[in-house]
Amino acid sequence: MISGNKPLKGRVDISGAKNAAVAIIPATLCAGGVHTIENLPQIEDVRNYIAVLESMGAKCRLLNPSTLQVDARKANSTVHMPDNLKGMRASYYLIGALLGRYKHAVVPMPGGCNFGSRPIDQHIKGFEALGATVVQEHGSIFVSAQRLVGTKIYLDVASVGATINIMMAAVYAEGETTIENCAKEPHIVDCANFLNMCGANIKGAGTGVIRILGVKTSDMKDRDYTIIPDQIEAGTYMIAGAITSGEVVVRKVIPKHMEALSAKLQEMGCEIFAGDDWIKVRGKTELKPTTVTTLYYPGFPTDLQPQMTALLTQGNGTSYVTETVFENRFQYIDQLARLGAKVKIEGRMAAIEGAARLTGAHVEATDLRAGACLVVAALAAEGATKISNVHFIDRGYENIVDKLKALGASVRRIGDGEAPIVMEA
Ligand code: UD1
Repeated sequence: MISGNKPLKGRVDISGAKNAAVAIIPATLCAGGVHTIENLPQIEDVRNYIAVLESMGAKCRLLNPSTLQVDARKANSTVHMPDNLKGMRASYYLIGALLGRYKHAVVPMPGGCNFGSRPIDQHIKGFEALGATVVQEHGSIFVSAQRLVGTKIYLDVASVGATINIMMAAVYAEGETTIENCAKEPHIVDCANFLNMCGANIKGAGTGVIRILGVKTSDMKDRDYTIIPDQIEAGTYMIAGAITSGEVVVRKVIPKHMEALSAKLQEMGCEIFAGDDWIKVRGKTELKPTTVTTLYYPGFPTDLQPQMTALLTQGNGTSYVTETVFENRFQYIDQLARLGAKVKIEGRMAAIEGAARLTGAHVEATDLRAGACLVVAALAAEGATKISNVHFIDRGYENIVDKLKALGASVRRIGDGEAPIVMEA
């Protein structure tokens, strides 16, 4: 429940990156041994991944709420996913991690999501090119190889998941593997850094070509690793500062990762100040409209598109958003419209009428970032907004209620996120 129309003011510490965490946790299986991962975000996706690793025989111990020790020495290469986690999306990383380490994996098919089909054909193409046989039956993916041999793999789409997955599968492949047209997102670099620190030989992560020289399992060492800050969480709070004409400092961030968003906020008239590990956003009551096109990193992230669309409802004129990464990522617009947004969708483009008067209503999150979009809009809306299905938001935002409260927002949790909630004044 959010009572909006108040400027947010203050500082917020950004947690570790969700998308890095859900890659590096399975990467511990690829590395083998015992590893300590620091700066883990305390979110549902991480808790779920820990449960999956435990169900596979890995020993997971939280040394403190954001530090996890994984002992992967006795992990199985067959994943019996606990029933409640069968819809998990990022479980696909188990395939590459286990194939790389054990040359064998049985993993339930990854779950879908609410914004279009998300095939894994590029992941499979990479595994097969390395020499694996891939069979999909009975709801699971079976991969196995006598030998994995390095080769050249060209991705038809610069998929984040395929890049990380093939990279993990190739860590011990004989000779050199080259992944061309790969994705460049910061969490790909983070996962490569973790594996390299353990003893892998991965070069070029963060560029369009990654080279992996196969090493031996005996080359790998136990390591401590700290996860990078969450680009999308940081961006969400920056947008929250801008939409409420507030002044928000996001701390413990990597400003370079935020450049696409900072540039758009400046175009709209917000002031941006940045230090080594912080960014301050000073919002304005008059915001200009702009155009946004989602792209792979370093372009504007699709995961900030819904929150940005909420902000664009406050521009002084019509703004345009083009979604190029996912075919169907405007499904949340109906819910945003309940708060007063006026948006027309045509294919992959949204035209957002500016200067909308947002007013509180009962809305439902349809996925993680759609939920974040509704939170951002509710912070600017007059009156009370009730957001249900907040379990989606819990997947990716650590402690969002307390972080927003510390910035001066009127927000409270009135249910567990899934149970029916009684509307309050
Ligand atoms: C990751 C992120 C997600 C983000 C997305 C794009 C994680 C855990 N999730 O998702 O938050 O929104 O990147 O930045 O890191 N595609 C194919 N074939 C494939 C793989 C992908 O056609 O084999 C297509 C997808 O349908 C989509 C596009 O490529 O249109 C990008 O997908 P991808 O980068 O793979 O996204 P995810 O790794 O699923």
